Amino acid sequence: MKNGGEMAGLNVLLVDGDRVSAAQHTALLEGNGLRVTRAESLARARILLEAGRYDVAVVMAELPDGDGTQLVAPRNGGPPVVLMTEHGTVRGAVDAIRRGAADYLVCPVAAGELCEAASRAAAASGAPRETQGGPDALDGLIGADLRMAKVFDLIDAVAAARTTVLLTGESGTGKSLVARAIHRRSPRRSGPFVEVACGALPDTLLESELFGHVKGAFTHAVSDRPGKFAAADGGTIFLDEISTASPQLQVKLLRVLQERQFEPVGSIETRAVDVRVILATNHDLAAEVEAGRFRRDLYYRINVVNIELPPLRDRPGDIERLAAHFLQKYQAEAGRKLRGFDGEAMDRMRRYAWPGNVRELENCVERAVVLCRGATISRDDLPPSVARPGEAVLPKDHAAQSSGLKEAMTLPEKHLIVAALEAAGGNRQDAAARLGINRSTLYKKMKKHGLL
Ligand SMILES: Nc1ncnc2c1ncn2[C@@H]1O[C@H](COP(=O)(O)OP(=O)(O)O)[C@@H](O)[C@H]1O
Ligand SMILES: [Mg+2]
Repeated sequence: MKNGGEMAGLNVLLVDGDRVSAAQHTALLEGNGLRVTRAESLARARILLEAGRYDVAVVMAELPDGDGTQLVAPRNGGPPVVLMTEHGTVRGAVDAIRRGAADYLVCPVAAGELCEAASRAAAASGAPRETQGGPDALDGLIGADLRMAKVFDLIDAVAAARTTVLLTGESGTGKSLVARAIHRRSPRRSGPFVEVACGALPDTLLESELFGHVKGAFTHAVSDRPGKFAAADGGTIFLDEISTASPQLQVKLLRVLQERQFEPVGSIETRAVDVRVILATNHDLAAEVEAGRFRRDLYYRINVVNIELPPLRDRPGDIERLAAHFLQKYQAEAGRKLRGFDGEAMDRMRRYAWPGNVRELENCVERAVVLCRGATISRDDLPPSVARPGEAVLPKDHAAQSSGLKEAMTLPEKHLIVAALEAAGGNRQDAAARLGINRSTLYKKMKKHGLL
């Protein structure tokens, strides 16, 4: 055990009404040198807390005489509480942490997980909690919509603990930004923040990218490489597009989430890391589980706290605010001073559905700043998909005028491709996915339409 030395001798109050699990948890804690006193009910726990001093309380949420969360209520001189539950829910985790729980673990817990949570809680007790930022912005995240306010609230609530966080939402909704905000507001902020785009690498490479490898593990492994988990030690690792993980990788992820341990590819030596894991996906993971493509146990493990980013079209009130924010950013970069958007341009932007979400809006504003000739951005400075919705898909006049059916038929395709590329911020992989074709087909079509 990595910090066995720091843990030894800690006085733990274990509150667990189930004799079997209490015995298991006692064994895990005592095995690492912690001293355990057990209470089998809320009532008994209260008596013991009055009578004795504990460095940390490890409390099951489900107790015979009530909800263990009650012990979290900040009391004078009470020990920090690590809450455990048989039935992890997002609400439960968020409520517990917001009320002041030091950590929230879902059973079954591994030895390392439980002991580290307990010692971390004991060490951190008394440390001040973060204060909240402004009402409609948080660490570069803009949003005044009620749903975004909830997102900010969740970020704030979960930042302090090491709880795994799952970010869901369409591409471009701000998942990467949220992951950084959580890290920056956590006690790990001075540690590394390591981001891995899991979808961008083939399985075999991804495994060694994450866990490292030893020299000779495979053909191109000419030297030892520590990998991203090792690089994130003491900080946060952000695994983007997690639904692409292969079954083999899912097993390894499960282990590192449970025990904070792994073996580099080709090595039998186990490494321990202290990382907070944040994951993101724009797929419906529950559906992936039902389809048998994603492990159920891993899903439960990563779905402790789920922060869902709403698509931009569901928060139209934020469009203007975000547009103004990006205008500031890009006119500063371009060394220009613009007055803003005229009424018609803003109207078009408000009506548009933004399939590429905030990323697409950002690209739209960046492009407009470059194209704009006057002092105000007008409709003509916007991409066709935004400025002339509908026409992009079926250009009426054009179709009628053009020389033949065949030529007319290719126009909608070209417009669709342009729209998809714009929505994807120029990312071809993403654009191809939106169109339901593969990347090489998209490439061929772009060539055909003179888009390359
Ligand atoms: N609420 C927001 N406020 C300001 N900028 C945002 C917001 N949401 C997203 N962005 C910006 O939009 C772009 C896409 O966001 P990103 O976090 O990469 O999305 P995702 O990871 O969900 O695809 C980034 O440039 C990001 O800075
Ligand atoms: Mg992202």
